[in-house]
Amino acid sequence: MEQVENKDSNILPQAVRLNRFLAMAGIASRRKAENLILAGEVKVNGKVVTDLATKVSPKNDRVVIGSKVIAAEERLVYLVLNKPKDYITTASDERGRKTVFDLVRTRERVFPVGRLDRKTTGVLLFTNDGALASRLMHPSHNVPKIYHVTLETGLDEKHAVKIEHGVHLEDGKTAPAHVDILSGTKRRDVLLAIHEGKNRQVRRMFESFGYEVKRLDRVEYGGVTTQGLKRGGWRFLSAREVASLKEQAGVEN
Ligand code: URA
Repeated sequence: MEQVENKDSNILPQAVRLNRFLAMAGIASRRKAENLILAGEVKVNGKVVTDLATKVSPKNDRVVIGSKVIAAEERLVYLVLNKPKDYITTASDERGRKTVFDLVRTRERVFPVGRLDRKTTGVLLFTNDGALASRLMHPSHNVPKIYHVTLETGLDEKHAVKIEHGVHLEDGKTAPAHVDILSGTKRRDVLLAIHEGKNRQVRRMFESFGYEVKRLDRVEYGGVTTQGLKRGGWRFLSAREVASLKEQAGVEN
């Protein structure tokens, strides 16, 4: 029985309370599961357990009621948050800053697919589907991310071409990207499509040519947008959006 809960937001929960485990398995509500535990009906790894604080690892512990082995499969959920400025992408912050988990509340323990900087706004996906998340984040699957970048000064054509071909950053050259300068913005507003996720990549790509990024908004991740969401709002993805992400990431539907 594990007693430690993994606090890292990027890793699926290792240990859950026994009553939650039973609820996840569809045995009973959490409250009724507590009654089963208190009544001595539940065995973990061969021993009757009546302590409600007991945690079990869905992978490693054997939970039995009567002669039935209980398997808990947490429902896989997928959602998109329209991240506002000044929220950081972490589970907790020792400096007490606001985190994206102040905005997203679900029964299932979800974690963000990659990160957005504190000042960056827009599409931030969350899921408890670790296989899909790691594939989405891997550059080899070419899942496009589109950023609306607002620059202090207009983007020179020669820099746009260089950004499209790849920029040398301290951690390597960026892969080919697509730049679309929005008309009527004095070349200050740009849509940039990339499929990598290096740390602060977009800001560093523009900063490497001396541009100041005034605003950065992720408008799309694998086709998922914040349509219908105000800043700070979130929604579950539709079945069609999930199927499309899986297809793009090479995961069987
Ligand atoms: N690139 C950045 O520079 N910042 C982000 O938040 C995301 C991509």
